[in-house]
Amino acid sequence: MSGFSTRAIRAASTPPRVDEIPTAVPIYQSATFQAADAETLADVIAFRRPGFSYSRLGNPTIEAAAAAVAELEGAEAGYGFASGMAAIFTTLTALVGAGDRIVASRALYGSTQSVIGSGLRRFGVDVAFVDPTDPEAVEAALAERPARVFYVETIANPTTIVADVPRLVELAHRYGALAVVDNTFASPYVFRPIEHGADLVVESATKWLGGHSDVLAGFVAGGRRLMERIRDRQIETGGTLAPFSAFLVLRGIETLAVRMERHAATALALAAWLEGQEGVARVYYPGLASHPQAAVAARLFRTGGGMLAFELAGGRGAGAAFIDALTIPQRTASLGSVHTFVVHPPSTSQRQLTEAELAAAGIAPGLLRVSVGLEDLEDLVADFEAGLRAAARACTPQVPDAGPATAEPGPTSTAAPAPRGRS
Ligand SMILES: Cc1ncc(COP(=O)(O)O)c(C=O)c1O
Repeated sequence: MSGFSTRAIRAASTPPRVDEIPTAVPIYQSATFQAADAETLADVIAFRRPGFSYSRLGNPTIEAAAAAVAELEGAEAGYGFASGMAAIFTTLTALVGAGDRIVASRALYGSTQSVIGSGLRRFGVDVAFVDPTDPEAVEAALAERPARVFYVETIANPTTIVADVPRLVELAHRYGALAVVDNTFASPYVFRPIEHGADLVVESATKWLGGHSDVLAGFVAGGRRLMERIRDRQIETGGTLAPFSAFLVLRGIETLAVRMERHAATALALAAWLEGQEGVARVYYPGLASHPQAAVAARLFRTGGGMLAFELAGGRGAGAAFIDALTIPQRTASLGSVHTFVVHPPSTSQRQLTEAELAAAGIAPGLLRVSVGLEDLEDLVADFEAGLRAAARACTPQVPDAGPATAEPGPTSTAAPAPRGRS
């Protein structure tokens, strides 16, 4: 008879036998999996035979989530990561090393831009940032020196610039580069880059895939051979997705289509309403005819998605007053949720950028980014109306002629330089 401790450990870690298939994927909250014998364990660890050994190398719940993302993206294989940034960093460092070149869109999420622009440059990677809406500039950068990777966001954060992915992928391939597309803003419901030739798609599942702002997760999907390289780098760097997080993403994916339809319908109506409002200098929504890449979006996308941006004529001061007057949208830094989020990118998601870099990325001081949630449209319109009134009050007495193009902060500005680094 074993001692109490031995019996307790055995008793508490004996999985139940389940002959029926559960309707939800179970959470395999286990760091380790035991093999029948030493040889089997050696084979499983070395990927010579399928199975699980250690959850950084593979876990059933994480694999189920990654397989679901790969299926939605139309890819052969997928892997899950602890966050979108873990997915992006692991992918890029699996593909490039010192002396290699990346050509990247200059309209990128701030942390991605700093990973490529400062992080990889520090390790000797040659980087060229280009305007993704200018195929000639993209081609010139690809032709200048062979690049290993061309990197672009389907819908750029925060400007909603839409990339003509098939055209850019064709250019990348013509010059021997792999095309990596961040599809976070679109989600695979709106667009699937792999079906348009992209080699890899990266996605922050913290956003639309998870959908409820209660999980951090990231995925990469693509062809099996490329994905094996990424898997090896993930095992070394360890940005592994947690099983419970994988479960939350799986649950989010089940309702992705219905959520994305409602997000898009509300976003389109809100964008159209904003276009007619005083004090709004510009509205950017891929589903509006006025969007600079409306034709590309109409050709490629199922809907305009859930993200829109707009510029307040009053600049930074108006932006702050607008956000402070809101009662429904939450003041936070994320997107892709049942909750509507309104952010001021120059002081949040793009805070790593200098004023000059912001201007180069097309981000005006009064730009606000809206991730449209599932609340009722009428309530959001009423709240935004109050926001616009507050923005007008904040600006009228002090800067009657303030315009969207000025880089000068408004009177109520938080003009302190944006902190760099942290996500
Ligand atoms: C376009 C885009 N890609 C990647 C990320 C990073 O995702 P995560 O916060 O899950 O690391 C974000 C985050 O906002 C994003 O907007």
